[in-house]
This record gives sequence, structure tokens and C-alpha cells, in this order.
Amino acid sequence: MIMPNNLGRQYELHADEYKKKACEILDSGWYILGKEVELFEKEWADYVGAKYCVGLASGLDALWISFRLLNIGKGDEVIVCANAYIACVMGITINGATPVFVEPDQYDNIDADKIEAAISDNTKAILAVHLYGQACDMTKIMSIAKKYNLKVVEDCAQSHGNHWQGQTVGTFGDIGCFSFYPSKGCGAFGDAGCIVTDNSELANQFKIFRNYGSEKRYHNKMVGSNSRLDELQAGLLRVKLSHIDDFNEERNRLAEEYDSKISNPLVIKPQVRPGADSTWHQYVVHVPENRDKLMEYLKEREIGTLIHYPIPPHLSEAYAYLGHKVGDYPIAEKYANEVLSLPMYNGMTSEEQKIVIEAINGFTGD
Ligand SMILES: Cc1ncc(COP(=O)(O)O)c(C=O)c1O
Repeated sequence: MIMPNNLGRQYELHADEYKKKACEILDSGWYILGKEVELFEKEWADYVGAKYCVGLASGLDALWISFRLLNIGKGDEVIVCANAYIACVMGITINGATPVFVEPDQYDNIDADKIEAAISDNTKAILAVHLYGQACDMTKIMSIAKKYNLKVVEDCAQSHGNHWQGQTVGTFGDIGCFSFYPSKGCGAFGDAGCIVTDNSELANQFKIFRNYGSEKRYHNKMVGSNSRLDELQAGLLRVKLSHIDDFNEERNRLAEEYDSKISNPLVIKPQVRPGADSTWHQYVVHVPENRDKLMEYLKEREIGTLIHYPIPPHLSEAYAYLGHKVGDYPIAEKYANEVLSLPMYNGMTSEEQKIVIEAINGFTGD
């Protein structure tokens, strides 16, 4: 069986290093907010080119705590791509703010040319989600944000180390949010996340908020949360980070192979926006006519694929209260019916990829 993602393969590439680091931390007797978290925060900030990084418990925490600390809540609107992952939208709504959806473009990210039409007097921020490992058009997004005095939060959960015009994503807006969920580019061995920012005051607020609102033990400045990155995850993430360029390069090679060898006219290959690069968190093809048939056909040949995502957030049961209906965002709805993520993981062999490519090229649609 060729899995859509095979985390064990990436682990095997450096298993001894992870084991050594894990034992070192277990033996240390210090498990929460210690030296590993501090070092990881410094190394991740350096990696993305930000001044500060604050480790958190998950990517969703990074999002909702960002909006909380930016004071964006009830009565406020946040613009977000209509084909985003549900967690992006929850990051907005947990604080009581309202998501305002904007259709994606042919690069599967927010269509920046449609953002202005979605701005109202209540708009406070744009959440730029760099979906599938590809950067949004941050030049247009930042210029709209400047014109309307909006905050910009970047969701880089699926984009660890990719760029827009040479600058690493996460460093354009006020805050860059990262998830280190195990399947992500730099994935932890459990849940983990972080934010990056150049604003020292904001970074400090995150540090206080993640630890029950306290800077000094038992002195609580605000009502916070428990969203601490633990030492074990931070230490293991440091090992992952030391290999991230190789991981990204390998996925790039796999994507190039798919690009050059998939030749089935029923399958539209992903396009990379000029000025962006992709770290290929997912290799997402569009199959407008018979996506589900292709998925089934591949499954019969023991090739696993995934749909990111089958239900756009505005049609999710969780967001019925927003009152949207089918047809409100036709492009996002169309994408939900045609996207398919092909197997893509570090450690994928050329034999495995050949099997996937040959199977796809042999699909006739019947
Ligand atoms: C785009 C995006 N945003 C947010 C999240 C939430 O991250 P987490 O699962 O770490 O809470 C994820 C992934 O799960 C994601 O893919």
C-alpha cells in the first residue's frame, strides 16, 4: 500500500538522532518550558527570518491566541480564503469574530484581487493561509492591509520555509502562525505550534498568555491559557529543523517528477504562482470531471490519496450559524469536488512514485 503520507519513512531517515535527543530530555528531569524550548524558539525565528518566536501547544492555539492578543473578537470581521482548512476559520471564530470568505484563485490560495470587495467597516484583519505549501501573493495582501489599516496574520501551518519573492512566509504580516502537527513539513511527534513576530511587546504577551497569563509564578496579569510547547517536542523539532532544507528539497524533487511525468489530460497539475515557491506540503491535482472515480481507481491499486478538503468551511455543520448556503462560494465549492492530494512524503521511493504516475496516466475516466 502506498500511503498518502508515510510519517514512518521520514522518521527512519534520522531515527537515531530522535532517539538520542528524546532520551537526553527524559534524563534531564525538566519537561516544560526549558532550554530546548528556548533554543528552538531562537532557531525557528532565525530560520524564518523573524525577530521572535514563541512556542505554543498547537497551530490552532497560534491562530486564536493571535486574534485574541490583537483584540479582534465579537463584532469584528476577518477575511479568509473560502477553501481554507476548518482550523483557520476556528482560529477566527473562537474569539467571536466573523470570518468573511474570499474565493481562491488558480493557485488554490486566496484571490487577492477579490479581497477589497469583501472589506467592510467591521473588517479588522486578513488571515493569509499559505495552503498546500505555496505562498499567497503577499505583495497585494500587504498593500490592501496598509490601505485599509488591517492587521495581517499568516497561517503558515502548511508552509514551513517557503517564500514569496525570496522572503520567508510568516514574516510579512503582524504575526506568522505555525503548526507542527506530525504531518507538517517540520512535524513534531505530537501536537505543537508557534508564532513568529518582529514585535517584542506582542511576543512577550504570547509568552505570558501561554502560561495562564503569568510572567512570574502565581502572579497572573491576564486570563490566559495553557498552551506551552513541551521540552520533548521542542528538542525533537530542533532535530527536524536541522534537516528541513533536505526535506523540502526532496519534496521538491518529487513534485518535479510528478510535474514532468503525469500526462493524463483528465488531471490538472498544480501551478506555482510566479514569485512564489512551494515546499509541497501537498501535491494537489484538480480532476474536474471524475475525481472520486480516480480516487477509487487508485485505491483499488493500493494507492492512497486524500482530499484537502471535501467540505468548504462555509458549508460545514459547525458554521451553519453563519447562514451560508450552497452556491455562495462556487469556486471553493468546485475545488472541494475536484482536488486530490497525491502521495507525497520524505522517503518516498522512485519505484513508489513510478507506480503512482503510471496508474494515474492509465486512468481513462470510465
Ligand atoms: C492551514 C492550517 N491551519 C491550522 C492548522 C491547525 O494546526 P493544529 O492541528 O496544530 O492545531 C492546520 C493543521 O492542522 C492547518 O493545516
